[in-house]
Amino acid sequence: MSRPTTRTSDASTSRTTDDALVRALARALGGDDARVRTTDAAMEKYAVDWQNKYRGRPLCVTLPRTTEEVRAIVRLCAEYRTPIVPQGGNTGLVGGATPTEAREVVVCMERMNGILSVDEDAGCATCEAGVVLEDLESAVRSRGMTVPLDLGAKGKCQMGGCVSTNAGGLRLLRYGSLRGSVLGLEVVLANGEVLDLMRTLRKDNTGYDLKQLFIGAEGTLGLVTKVAISTPRAPLSVHVALFGLESFAKCVEMLKLARENLGEVLSAYEFFDRESLELVLAQLKGTRDPLPGKPRAFYVVVETSGSVAKHDSAKLKSFLSIVRRRGIVVDGVVGRDEKHAFALWTLRERISVALKYAGAVYKYDVSLPTARMYNLVTTLRERFEPKFGSSVKVLGYGHLGDGNLHLNISCAEYDDAIERAIEPFVYEYVRDERGSISAEHGLGLMKAEEIHYSKDAKAVALMATMKQTLDPLGIMNPRKVLPVAAVRAAASTPMSRL
Ligand code: MLT
Ligand code: ZN
Repeated sequence: MSRPTTRTSDASTSRTTDDALVRALARALGGDDARVRTTDAAMEKYAVDWQNKYRGRPLCVTLPRTTEEVRAIVRLCAEYRTPIVPQGGNTGLVGGATPTEAREVVVCMERMNGILSVDEDAGCATCEAGVVLEDLESAVRSRGMTVPLDLGAKGKCQMGGCVSTNAGGLRLLRYGSLRGSVLGLEVVLANGEVLDLMRTLRKDNTGYDLKQLFIGAEGTLGLVTKVAISTPRAPLSVHVALFGLESFAKCVEMLKLARENLGEVLSAYEFFDRESLELVLAQLKGTRDPLPGKPRAFYVVVETSGSVAKHDSAKLKSFLSIVRRRGIVVDGVVGRDEKHAFALWTLRERISVALKYAGAVYKYDVSLPTARMYNLVTTLRERFEPKFGSSVKVLGYGHLGDGNLHLNISCAEYDDAIERAIEPFVYEYVRDERGSISAEHGLGLMKAEEIHYSKDAKAVALMATMKQTLDPLGIMNPRKVLPVAAVRAAASTPMSRL
């Protein structure tokens, strides 16, 4: 591939180079202006993330329709040494899919939205990266199957983004992580080659499982263009119950009993605190207190999914009587029908939307030892109270069944003094508990420089070496996931010295 000279810092030269790249991209995408966008207005929705927290100024936004077009974009960006930011539904929470100020080319997958196959016998589906999760769910539902991933952003997030961030969601407890559910991938590498790992086999024990490299890599090693995913049978009977509890310790005690007594039908175990509920009730029209007049400190949503309604409801009833008898729950409510169950789920699922409406929010998504998980929320409240009073609200909710806490600090607007009170305190706390600073949202731009709180130096150096091997020009989503210095060091460190 012939390469023009590397970009210089000279403004007029780099503008000329940028213009040439944009023209070449437009040609590669058939001269379709709507698919190579350059004006601020046309790029706006791709330049800023869902939360309005991360904003960049991309050189242009490209909307490929095929893998061939993605290849052409990547080759041109390599030729012009211009960074690429892959983007799906732009619903990430750590700035992983948002451009920075570095004049990058956004590659948004929304036009690659074809469902390629649905196989009932094998229980799997294949699709392009830009398929919206909810659309894939509808397609497989009509054949009696389900996508083993469900999250609040399902109406907007895309399969390529879900895979690239290894999204967790509400039913990880039931179906496990995407690392187990994704059967195959097609990836465009940083040199424009296509790596065809698209298999739908459950068992394939031939060497290194390369697709795992791209799951959770946030587009830093290559661009996911197609996905093959297992689609288990959809449950025939689903029950939802919401409980009010007096302490976090009781939520944990009830989890053990849920595992024991609901066993194979337990499909979700989610918690939120009173502060989260109050915010939802205040911000989201049509929501109602599930246990009116009886404010409780914590709420737990328990869901069962099985195949025989009578059997599942008998199990749920027996579980209810056990937790009542033992004085673990104070009160609760069982979803009467689908609509009521949906309303109960909304209270948990839409907390992040309520937070967005409430103003600015600092979000932390951490794994901690289950029993001590909520201590981080109370510790932060104690830290904030004397200085900020009630202007700052600390909320805790999350996937209790997976040891994943969502710690959210809500305030009117972003403020450095508030951020300084949170960081690095939260990261140090998580490190001292041997937890993870990212349970499911990824590192993105927000936490790339903080990876050391959860990974030791050797692991980070090895990751950077992998990045260097697959992306020697450093064009794939730079500044995301890995610290800049680690990536630089990898360029000059032979493997043997790691
Ligand atoms: C959730 O579990 O609700 C999502 O991960 C989003 C969030 O953390 O707010
Ligand atoms: Zn979550």
